[in-house]
Parts: sequence; structure tokens; C-alpha cells
Amino acid sequence: MKKYNRAGAQPQNMDVEALKKEAGISACSYVSSGMKVGLGTGSTVKYTILELGRRVREEGLDIVGVPTSIATEVLAKQQGITLCELDDLDGLDVVIDGTDEFDPNFHLIKGGGAALLREKVVAQSSSKMVVVADDRKRVDCLGAFPLPIEVTPFSHATTLNAIERVLDCSAAVRQGEEGPLVTDNGNYIVDAKTGPTITEPSVTEAQLLHIAGVVQVGLFTEMCDVVILAGLDGVSVLEKS
Ligand code: A5P
Repeated sequence: MKKYNRAGAQPQNMDVEALKKEAGISACSYVSSGMKVGLGTGSTVKYTILELGRRVREEGLDIVGVPTSIATEVLAKQQGITLCELDDLDGLDVVIDGTDEFDPNFHLIKGGGAALLREKVVAQSSSKMVVVADDRKRVDCLGAFPLPIEVTPFSHATTLNAIERVLDCSAAVRQGEEGPLVTDNGNYIVDAKTGPTITEPSVTEAQLLHIAGVVQVGLFTEMCDVVILAGLDGVSVLEKS
């Protein structure tokens, strides 16, 4: 794993939001004209989208974006970024997205924003995945952040029980303002409180996908290539070796 520290920074004077912003903007260096770009979801990658929009409007950056959520679609359109359906493209050059946790092998937990299904579809279609994060997301072992799992509304209580059995932990259907939160795909999210115990995320992912009511799991394994990390020591670029 390579690490490059940002020169001349005084991060102790920055708040988390400022660091997220710097990480988000730094990720834009992976984007150039002619690229097809997956646009992630969340409060960190928001700054990437704002900066890409600025470059489109002010510098003539010529890209096509594929959003990973309705919220990102709305934001990207507001910014003047040309959008396209993934189905109309032959893959993407890069996706830039946030994460809820990443481990030393660059395995991720995602879905804190309930967008994990589209995020995973887009990430699987991208040649490179760049993750933007702050230092709180860096863990030795995944699972302190409750694992988001997208499930069908049909028989969701049965699916939740099966998830609890497989993971040997408690789980809960994520709530919105009026009952269960509904994803962009019309599904529910189950958050599983495994604790930091997910040592083999690919195995856990496969076990969960075996449950019929599970649509997708917020474990992203072997996908992330680069983490742009905002922390108290500044912004670092971590590359998977
Ligand atoms: C969306 O479903 C998530 O995967 C987000 O990418 C993740 O929660 C990170 O979001 P923040 O940058 O807002 O922490």
C-alpha cells in the first residue's frame, strides 16, 4: 500500500467536513475528458460531484456520469453533468464513491446511505474504484458499522430472522420517517450488528446472498483500488498493492 501525504497542510485547523471536501475534490484527479464516470452516493463524494460539475461548467470537462442513487442523479443534474444509463455504455472508466468502513485489504462496508445495490452494480462495471473517506472509516476488521443488507419487502421478517441465524447477531429493519425505509429500488434495508468480526467478507457475503430474500449485501470485496483518506494528518492516497 503506497501512501502520499499532502504537502504543506495544516489539518489540525480543519474540521471533518473540510477534510471530506478535500478528499472529495482530490478524487477528481482520476477524471479527465472522455471518461465514463460512476458517481457514488454520500456526504463525502458529494464534494467530488460538485467539483466535477464546476470543471464541466468552467473548464469544459467532457464526461458522462452514471449516478448510483436518485439523490446523486438530482445533484449531478443540478451541476450540469451529462448523465447516462449504465446499460447504454460498455462499462465505466472509474467510479468514485464513499464508504462506511474499509479494512487493510480494501474490503468495504457500504450502504449507510441505503444505495448499496446501485453502488455495487456500478462498481462492478468500472475499471477502477476510487473511494473517498475520512479517517473514522479505516478499521482493522469490518463490522463495527452495522452491515447494511438490501432485502425484499416480501417476507422481510423471515429474511431478517435468517440473516440473524447466519451471522449469529441481532439485526433490524432500517426505519424511515413513516415505517421501514424504502430504497431507490423499492426494497428494505436490514442492518446487522455483527461487531468487528467480519474476517472473511467474501464468505460472509456469499452466505448472505444464499438467503432468497436478500437482494444484495453491503460488503464490497476485491473492488476498491484506491482510497483517498482525509484524516488529522491531511489527505493521503492509499493504493492497493
Ligand atoms: C451509500 O449507500 C453509502 O455506501 C455511502 O457511500 C457511505 O455511507 C459513505 O457515505 P458518507 O461519505 O456520507 O459517510
